[in-house]
Amino acid sequence: MNAKILHIPELDSTNRYWKEHAFEAEDFSFLYCDYQTGGRGRNGRNWLSPKGENLLFSFVIKDKEFLQKGAKLSLYAAAAIVTYLERKGFQKITIKWPNDVYIGGRKVAGILLEGSLPNFVVVGIGLNVNQETFEGQYRVPPTSLSLICKKKIPIDGLVKYLFPYIDDFFHQTSDEEALKIYEAHDYLKGRRIRFPYNGPMKEAVVLGITKDFRLLVETLQGQVIELTSGEMTTIRYD
Ligand code: BTN
Repeated sequence: MNAKILHIPELDSTNRYWKEHAFEAEDFSFLYCDYQTGGRGRNGRNWLSPKGENLLFSFVIKDKEFLQKGAKLSLYAAAAIVTYLERKGFQKITIKWPNDVYIGGRKVAGILLEGSLPNFVVVGIGLNVNQETFEGQYRVPPTSLSLICKKKIPIDGLVKYLFPYIDDFFHQTSDEEALKIYEAHDYLKGRRIRFPYNGPMKEAVVLGITKDFRLLVETLQGQVIELTSGEMTTIRYD
């Protein structure tokens, strides 16, 4: 498929752009930029990225059939990034629910879905490409593709192949296939986590994810619970 690609060097946020322009956008239009003055992360956090070093992009989904997938779109986005990176030779890739992409245990990409259902969803992805130092306090510092493969990667070249790949992946992959890819890269499965549940923190072991993209956990008291990513803003794990 021919992905429709727009480049705006600097703007507040590619997600915000599509949220404002979704009504005039074609389905699966991509936008990337070199710098965001108000990059948005999950749970109201900022997404900071030095100018020109990383790939910051969003695409808009308007097709009703896709919109019906709801939270599963998140699963598709993570599975598309993971399989693309694997084709490029990257290894040890995992996905931490709901959709942080890790390489060798360090975050390399973050995904933020926003939108106004049933009209559109914006899928925003920040992929660390050439950034070599990460300021700020991290329990485990993030990584980038260039830190792993020890060479700089031209962003324009990446865009040319990655965007059509994502477009094709969404159109050619079934829910079952996307789920299988996700499960094969599930970072949290089998790990013990702590999360706030009706107030106090609860401890549980992650069993996996459900078909509709909830995290399935078994508490230490033997209770099986499904968690949605919207409710679950804090998960701690070892
Ligand atoms: C996360 O918190 O892990 C999600 C980060 C998503 C960042 C990307 S960068 C491109 C797009 N535009 C934004 O403002 N955010 C997303």
